Amino acid sequence: MRRLVCVSNRISLPRRGAAPGGLAVGVLAALQNTGGMWFGWSGETAEVPSAEPEVLVRGNVRFATIDLKPAEFDAYYNGYCNSTLWPLFHYFPDRFTHEEAQHDAYYAVNEQFARQLAKLLKPDDAVWIHDYQLIPLGRCLRQLNFHGPIGFFLHIPFPHRQVLRVLPSYAELVRDLCQYDLLGFQTDDDLRSFLSCVEQPEARLSGQKDLVETGGRSVRVGVYPIGVDVDAISAAAAAAVSQDKVQRMTASLLGRKLIIGVDRLDYSKGLTERFAAFEQFLESFPDNQGRVTFLQIAPLSRGDVNAYSEIRHALEASAGRLNGHFAEADWTPIRYLNRNYTHATLMGFLRAAQVALVTPVRDGMNLVAKEFVAAQDPDDPGVLILSPLAGAAPELTGALQVNPYDKRATALALQTALNMPLAERRARHEQMLGAVREHDIHNWYGRFVHDLTGEIIRRRPMEARDGGDVRDTVPQLMPRPKLLSAR
Ligand code: F6P
Repeated sequence: MRRLVCVSNRISLPRRGAAPGGLAVGVLAALQNTGGMWFGWSGETAEVPSAEPEVLVRGNVRFATIDLKPAEFDAYYNGYCNSTLWPLFHYFPDRFTHEEAQHDAYYAVNEQFARQLAKLLKPDDAVWIHDYQLIPLGRCLRQLNFHGPIGFFLHIPFPHRQVLRVLPSYAELVRDLCQYDLLGFQTDDDLRSFLSCVEQPEARLSGQKDLVETGGRSVRVGVYPIGVDVDAISAAAAAAVSQDKVQRMTASLLGRKLIIGVDRLDYSKGLTERFAAFEQFLESFPDNQGRVTFLQIAPLSRGDVNAYSEIRHALEASAGRLNGHFAEADWTPIRYLNRNYTHATLMGFLRAAQVALVTPVRDGMNLVAKEFVAAQDPDDPGVLILSPLAGAAPELTGALQVNPYDKRATALALQTALNMPLAERRARHEQMLGAVREHDIHNWYGRFVHDLTGEIIRRRPMEARDGGDVRDTVPQLMPRPKLLSAR
């Protein structure tokens, strides 16, 4: 069996504290089952990064990390990743900025990842690269003479060609994607958008619908919706109900119904629209004033990027205005928190809520929607209000689906959810639980790794395993190939 090597910009080092995001939870679940290595940025910057990756072994997983220099990190992460690619991939061309120095830093950091990773790779490893921060990495590894299978999974939406071509180096990016053996997307729409970019004279869909032939090679493509560990969440949520933090939160509600939102603070999550819809709800259905509490947990992220400080200020103003207008001496309509909680506590909060508002204006999947479903008591489940612009929407048809820009529809959905009869809540929850189980986290990585390596992953408990040796010599990078002509 090949060793699995996962690579992502940020990795989840085994330490207690904040709940990791969906990518980290998914990769960790895969690696704990298969054993292997997780390679990525350490989360630290240093003027003189250490020459070798730092390796930490926990159970059957090796965690290997590298530091980046502050200036290159800024241009790569705050710049190209999160001011250029992120807004464009989420259909926000108006928030997109483009600077050549940042573009160059993105490619330089990917080459650096490749050089450092190559020192740790064994010839028969299978490499699985994650997300938009690392699109060129597969090509860089090939240029360093790694010949094993390399797959890439995009956790965020893939935009249609008409949006992506705003990017000056659009063709370079698409060409790099075509260097993988397997390309995975969250939804059918994302896959279709990718295919819209490769419909050019030198690329064509082969007879098989999941093979793209381009530049003399075949790239397998597929849809692998990421999921959650349903049984683990259900058990964690049920247990968390007796946790001190969860009990204190529920006691503080004084019997009021709870609406919950849990999102990284990002303009793609639809938070300003959500606050406006909640205001409309309190105005249109005033009986709820004093009877409902909206808990919005929004940990800060990417604070050095302008668009993120702007949205943060906008939300502070909007929550302050709303509370100033509606609050009573003994009731605050919105509890808006920029802090994070452990995963167990969050699952307890989700279980305690009657309604979850998951209304991104664009999202690759949104695992909070799936976590909310898994965390519910099936005998008395809460109601999910979900944006059709989240990747989870086609699966979760039991949710009340509303356009996040439609304040009236969202307000009405809140009123409907809070008053929904038990039988309907159960029926909707049953559909969603079935869907969440069908595409759970084990299905996600199991299918992807199988399609990449031909191997079947059997679920097994974590066990100690020491992977990997360190290669002494690292071949030099070759110049980048000539670009495809962009359409
Ligand atoms: O899912 C998209 C993603 O960028 C992941 O790659 C990452 O784990 C998560 O969001 C959090 O983003 P960041 O690492 O920029 O805080």
